[in-house]
Amino acid sequence: MKDKTIFTCEKCGSQSPRWAGQCSACGEWNSMMEEKVEQKVFGKKEKVIGTVGDVKSARELISTPLLRLKTKIDEADRVLGGGIVPGSLILLGGEPGIGKSTLTLQLASQFATEFGPVLLASGEESAEQIALRAGRIGHADGDLKIVGENILENLIAAAEIEKPKLLIVDSVQVFSSLELSSMPGSIPQIRIVTERLLRFAKSTKTPVILIGHVTKDGDLAGPRLLSHLVDVVLTLEGDANYDFRLLRSVKNRFGATSEVGVFEMKEAGLVEVKNPSAAFLEGRAENPVGSCVATTLEGTRPLLVEVQALTAPSVFGYPKRAASGFDLNRLQLIIAVLQKHARIKLDSSDVFVNVVGGFRLREPAADLAVALAIASSQKKIPLSTDLTAFGEIGLTGEIRSVSQIEKRKKESQKMGFEKIASGKEFRSVSEAIKKVFQ
Ligand code: TYD
Ligand code: MG
Repeated sequence: MKDKTIFTCEKCGSQSPRWAGQCSACGEWNSMMEEKVEQKVFGKKEKVIGTVGDVKSARELISTPLLRLKTKIDEADRVLGGGIVPGSLILLGGEPGIGKSTLTLQLASQFATEFGPVLLASGEESAEQIALRAGRIGHADGDLKIVGENILENLIAAAEIEKPKLLIVDSVQVFSSLELSSMPGSIPQIRIVTERLLRFAKSTKTPVILIGHVTKDGDLAGPRLLSHLVDVVLTLEGDANYDFRLLRSVKNRFGATSEVGVFEMKEAGLVEVKNPSAAFLEGRAENPVGSCVATTLEGTRPLLVEVQALTAPSVFGYPKRAASGFDLNRLQLIIAVLQKHARIKLDSSDVFVNVVGGFRLREPAADLAVALAIASSQKKIPLSTDLTAFGEIGLTGEIRSVSQIEKRKKESQKMGFEKIASGKEFRSVSEAIKKVFQ
């Protein structure tokens, strides 16, 4: 045995035999950390002999469908592709304070009631704290066991004794292995914790949910390499100032990645939102100037959200543009198109855009609603209350077609929106503005 030193980038996980001030793979500065690797040295005559694994025919495998354990929290089951697959390692990422511990606590107690003991290992909060919270949000039932722990080896030992039907680890950043001297949360520690849990999951067929904190810019703190190791990556997102939370699947070896689950953070934990469109439109004023409803798609799910715009004369020479829940560059583009092709004068106006409910509109299909909201504010004329819009705006002022039009229409009508503005009704932004404001 001989020890070798390698350097691993804390940000992207790339490795190099030499230290460098800047990672050559991702460009991060001061991120290369020293790591010792054990090397097995085999003599010339020694041969490594493998053991035969479990070989099955494809037909046999297809005829035995994957077992999925339904958590009975529908919004989570859907995102998981129908339930938790035994032996899978699931990573749940999200910003601190967004509700990861709350969600997993609820999953844990629900799962315990359905399938038997669940072990929740927390290195972040004490067992008493968690039990208190579980009691408060009414989820202390079932066979829920809690251990306050942050040593990997102790956690595995506890899991081997308890033999839970589901293991939850909160969080990957605070657990560390006694085998390594590096700090908890460092790349080597994160890797060993994940690898051991993966081995535990596969060898015992126990599903494991591993929580991981994500930084503001959406990176899983530390390693992207984590997502390669695990079977499923879920993220819990939302604006900390609002109560809505979206559960997304970013990677799923056992299902689609286009599903989203919608929750609302309440006194009693996360509550499923069965009709998100209704929830996002709740409290909308009757005929507001500068407001337009957008029909957007989150994964495969159509959603109606309100876009608000405010235009006001600029106090300083340089007009201000600001957006919350919408991409600022995209907003600049829409403003330019409005000025050039729809004769909406905005060069001496500040423009503010806000998506209601802390929702983030990511698809270009939201362009038209943003354009109409701005036009409405500038003209001081409200849009029809039962109008909803979707369509991507091109640089020549055209409204481009978007995906899943039928789905969007159906959801719009279901929510009582009879008038639709899209690339089908209008060819260009100027035509849309002419017609909807007459
Ligand atoms: P938490 O699950 O601890 O977040 P994370 O594990 O992602 O860091 O949730 C933190 C926030 O949620 C906290 O600010 C309080 C709030 N919360 C509620 O509003 N209601 C509840 O029932 C619970 C448990 C938490
Ligand atoms: Mg937590």
